[in-house]
Amino acid sequence: MGVRRPVSSLLPDFPWDTIASAKARAAEHPGGIVDLSVGTPVDPVDPLIRAALSAVAEVPGYPATHGTPELRAAAVEALARRFGITGLAAEAVLPAIGTKELIAGLPRLLGLGASDLVVIPEVAYPTYEVGALLAGTRVLRADGMTRLGPESPALIYLNSPSNPTGKVLGVDHLRKVVDFARQRGAVVASDECYLGLAWDEPAVSILDPRVCDGDHTGLLAVHSLSKTSNLAGYRAGFVTGDPALVRELLEVRKHAGMIMPFPVQSAMTAALTDDTHEARQRERYRARREILRKALQEAGFRIDHSSAGLYLWSTRGENGRTTLDWLAERGILAAPGDFYGPTGVDHVRIGLTATDERIAAAAERLTAE
Ligand SMILES: Cc1ncc(COP(=O)(O)O)c(C=O)c1O
Repeated sequence: MGVRRPVSSLLPDFPWDTIASAKARAAEHPGGIVDLSVGTPVDPVDPLIRAALSAVAEVPGYPATHGTPELRAAAVEALARRFGITGLAAEAVLPAIGTKELIAGLPRLLGLGASDLVVIPEVAYPTYEVGALLAGTRVLRADGMTRLGPESPALIYLNSPSNPTGKVLGVDHLRKVVDFARQRGAVVASDECYLGLAWDEPAVSILDPRVCDGDHTGLLAVHSLSKTSNLAGYRAGFVTGDPALVRELLEVRKHAGMIMPFPVQSAMTAALTDDTHEARQRERYRARREILRKALQEAGFRIDHSSAGLYLWSTRGENGRTTLDWLAERGILAAPGDFYGPTGVDHVRIGLTATDERIAAAAERLTAE
């Protein structure tokens, strides 16, 4: 028998272990820890969504990998209503069991391997790299296409608004990426997890007609309901765009049993049909962002980008690990920028995903001196 190589050996160390001591220090604060290191929702799931989940709890059969027709129609309509995306066919919507799962599997699902190149943002959500490593592809961090020289990548990831920087890519930038990808035969996967959380400037989808002229060929948009509808615990997202690519993903996912549970399909349909809960949640984050932003600036932080999304990409002009310790002394836990790529080293990512009470506590501690 050959020697088994654990798959985990292909992957980076799980970075969260490296902030355990900062977490322990922050937890010693007499007022308790304010954990702003992760983007996990804290506000309850809307009753309308919960009702849709429980209404079908008795249904015993296998759900469809493609999701119900109602779910697909609700996704198409929500994208049109919320983001002005037109020309999408319901067939081109495919549910994902949370988008992290889809992203981690995408290079493999697209059949990429050792000879292929996957391009990810300079500072990026770590799962783009993980997916590439699991498929054994090469990976390059690049924000501009000039870095690629004559290379023809197989897959280019975009993430606007960005985790962790909150940077928004404008229509012109997105158009250039689409043109480049089409010239070189690359698929563009646009992770639009934070598209509904734009504060200081509008954020546009890769499928926006101003970006792609209504032609979705080679384009995939990945949408999560975790943040905008507080459905992180339900595991609810979907991918849409190029009908041929989505059909191919569906074929493979059907065989592999990557099926969203039926009650979650029902909940997701309800969430996509209602904009009120989404707007309410957005306003909660807007208020928290204002409080934290002011307090961080008063405490001498510089906030870069962060015009959208759920994070304040912040620096005190020093190594982010030093800032992490400074915050931990005050009972606040952030994520060090180096989690997201080498060029993030001088920043920390400060999340808006804490209760009003915890955000107020953080602001008070930041401005106490
Ligand atoms: C940029 C980005 N993409 C995808 C995800 C995954 O979200 P989920 O798997 O909950 O849909 C996250 C979660 O934090 C994220 O920040």
